Amino acid sequence: MSKSPSPDKFVFPRWANYVLPLLVLGVIGGGMYAPTAVYLGLNPDNLNLHYRPEQPIPYSHATHVGQLGMDCTYCHTTVEHAAFAAVPPTQTCIACHGNSPDAPMGIKKASAKLQPLYDSYASGEPIEWIKVHDIADYAYFNHAAHTTKGIGCVTCHGRVDQMGEEGVYQAQNLSMSWCIECHREPEKYLRPADEVTNMTWSALDEPEAVAAIAAGQIDEGDEDAAQLLVGTRIKGEMNIHNKYYMQACSTCHR
Ligand code: HEC
Ligand code: HEC
Ligand code: HEC
Ligand code: HEC
Ligand code: HEC
Repeated sequence: MSKSPSPDKFVFPRWANYVLPLLVLGVIGGGMYAPTAVYLGLNPDNLNLHYRPEQPIPYSHATHVGQLGMDCTYCHTTVEHAAFAAVPPTQTCIACHGNSPDAPMGIKKASAKLQPLYDSYASGEPIEWIKVHDIADYAYFNHAAHTTKGIGCVTCHGRVDQMGEEGVYQAQNLSMSWCIECHREPEKYLRPADEVTNMTWSALDEPEAVAAIAAGQIDEGDEDAAQLLVGTRIKGEMNIHNKYYMQACSTCHR
């Protein structure tokens, strides 16, 4: 199999024909499963890690989220309900940057950096934000499936609240092995669902971890042990699928 198939020509069912027998072998082999998946692929070199395109407006998450404290869902309104996490329309920005005397937080000055925003507002044409994250179409991804179960934005996108005017960059390689690494052991990452947009949440602050530390069951500051404790509980509460379902080809290639 070629290492980097062209995404446009690459159609899942074609190679599935000869990959599936391999998979069956992998399942029969039990432990062979993981090496099979790794063998299939997934050379992270060509997966755009750290990709950071220049955007039409030097919009800063560090200013709006880090300093002003805005929640992710103020702008990415669909991320908890839909597969797709929408990038906000011009109107969302104009609510504050419209130069009207009633604009909140006293923003009255026109800014040269915002010229494309004013142009977009005047013309009705959307701002052409450049997509940072983009997995191939033959892999199915769904935001709501993750955010409603308790996987934090920071786990997959890094400290977005510290990304400044240079724009958002891709913090993880988004390879298949990266997806599967978590699907195999989601307890290492799960958090309470109402903390998914919190960039600084730590399992150490959860009451059960505090209690376990006080009782000497886990060492003070042992983030991994605290995460496992909290994550395992949430995995049960959320009724997370078993690891066979989570790693099945058809879960992500449908
Ligand atoms: C005030 C509006 C606003 C808020 C609040 C906001 N964002 Fe964004 N976000 C944007 C805009 C505009 C873009 C497109 C420009 C860019 O990619 O830098 C974007 C882009 C992104 C991207 C890259 C999308 C792509 O193209 O792949 C990610 C990931 C992201 N935001 C995550 C977050 C997270 C996580 C939070 C909360 C911690 C957040 N955003 C809060 C406006 C916002
Ligand atoms: C809730 C209000 C609010 C919203 C919504 C908002 N901003 Fe801002 N923005 C601010 C504040 C406050 C500042 C910092 C003060 C200033 O520069 O006027 C700022 C600063 C900026 C700056 C820096 C301006 C300069 O001259 O340094 C840019 C660029 C910007 N915002 C773009 C955007 C874009 C694009 C959107 C929509 C995706 C957006 N903002 C949505 C409140 C907001
Ligand atoms: C399990 C990992 C994961 C989590 C959790 C996650 N994202 Fe994403 N995000 C991705 C992937 C993968 C893509 C690329 C999707 C694609 O290309 O179809 C993406 C794309 C995006 C985009 C670009 C628009 C889109 O839907 O393609 C935005 C904006 C975004 N994420 C924001 C967020 C915010 C905000 C949160 C938290 C509420 C979040 N993401 C949580 C993995 C994740
Ligand atoms: C940090 C952990 C993590 C990462 C990384 C991750 N996932 Fe998930 N994924 C989960 C959890 C947890 C669920 C919820 C499973 C459930 O509801 O039983 C889930 C659910 C899903 C579902 C829905 C399954 C269903 O039928 O309910 C799909 C599809 C999916 N993930 C695809 C992906 C893809 C593709 C990637 C990589 C681009 C990815 N995931 C990366 C943890 C993760
Ligand atoms: C948790 C989600 C997930 C599961 C489960 C999964 N895949 Fe993938 N797969 C992906 C993602 C994401 C990609 C990479 C998409 C990209 O490059 O943008 C991918 C890519 C691939 C590729 C292309 C390899 C390459 O080098 O680009 C093949 C072949 C593949 N998967 C086969 C399988 C088979 C066979 C299984 C079952 C053993 C499987 N996948 C299970 C998410 C998954």
